[in-house]
Amino acid sequence: MSESPTTATNPRILIVGNAGQLGRELEKIFLGFGPIVGVDRESVDLADAGQTRDLVHRAEPDIILNAAAYTAVDRAESERDLAYAINEQAPRILAEEALRRNALFVHYSTDYIFDGGKTSPWLESDPPNPLNVYGASKLAGEQAVEGVGGKFLIFRTSWVYGPHGQNFLLTMLRLARERDRLSIVDDQIGGPTTSIELARATHSIVTGILAGRFGAPEDWIGLYHMTCGGSVSWFGFAQAIFARAAELLAVKPPTLTPIATQDYPTPAARPRYSVLSNSKLQARFAEKLLPWEAALEETLQALRIAK
Ligand SMILES: NC(=O)c1ccc[n+]([C@@H]2O[C@H](COP(=O)([O-])OP(=O)(O)OC[C@H]3O[C@@H](n4cnc5c(N)ncnc54)[C@H](OP(=O)(O)O)[C@@H]3O)[C@@H](O)[C@H]2O)c1
Repeated sequence: MSESPTTATNPRILIVGNAGQLGRELEKIFLGFGPIVGVDRESVDLADAGQTRDLVHRAEPDIILNAAAYTAVDRAESERDLAYAINEQAPRILAEEALRRNALFVHYSTDYIFDGGKTSPWLESDPPNPLNVYGASKLAGEQAVEGVGGKFLIFRTSWVYGPHGQNFLLTMLRLARERDRLSIVDDQIGGPTTSIELARATHSIVTGILAGRFGAPEDWIGLYHMTCGGSVSWFGFAQAIFARAAELLAVKPPTLTPIATQDYPTPAARPRYSVLSNSKLQARFAEKLLPWEAALEETLQALRIAK
């Protein structure tokens, strides 16, 4: 558990899952906002209800940012109970403890709660119909948080990647060093979203809420889609990565071949089209994330500097 000193005036912030892609960026951007307690799996096992509850009792937060999740989409098919423990039970407990303290609870969910059957961006009001256990467990988590109530925000996002952790960008860069040719799925369309942009937008919205810019809690509590702008297939995303990685990271671009989902079988089915409309987020909070191309450039630049 990492902890910064408490001050009387600033809100205490608990960041759950601070070693994950999003958690790392949240901890970075909320630095100086208030005293931060950041926890990873080593200090709390979210599959353990008692530990999860005890965490909030000890941290006494005014704001809980839950960046932790069971995110292994394919493994979830064979670890259903664990996925539900982390993606449904843990957020329910965090929401209950936030309610008890009158704290703000920020939680994240996924585009994989949709079945992919639309051809235009999904709205918050569209009916969910997850195709896999991960998506179903995340949907159960959303419903658990909404069921508890209190001051909560759920941000549904998609195709998360960033400079750290396990993600498509870093996998592509690694594979390019190992192989000359890569086959990439071209018939799943989504919105690649960076951990950096998610953290920035979360920080901006929480700042606005605390400043009273968005009115009373009943004016902003709820579920919002939060993704970078635009859409692309995994194949198109890989093309964009290698178009810039050669210059910025001295990566030799491999030959890319577009393939169909059926040619790359995985344990978990995935939606064909999971682009999320951000119009509710923009209307309510005047918040807009970067287009995915600009966010990719920002992330590649961050990797170049860190090299
Ligand atoms: N990644 C995506 O493509 C994607 C897409 C849509 C939505 N989302 C959502 O966005 C949010 C952030 O995702 P992310 O990509 O930042 O996830 P991530 O990098 O996988 O991080 C999740 C964190 O949760 C931790 N965690 C997992 N099980 C735990 C347990 N039992 N006890 C304590 N900690 C545990 C993980 O620890 P370990 O590393 O030790 O396992 C990891 O640090 C999540 O709500 C996710 O569902 C992600």
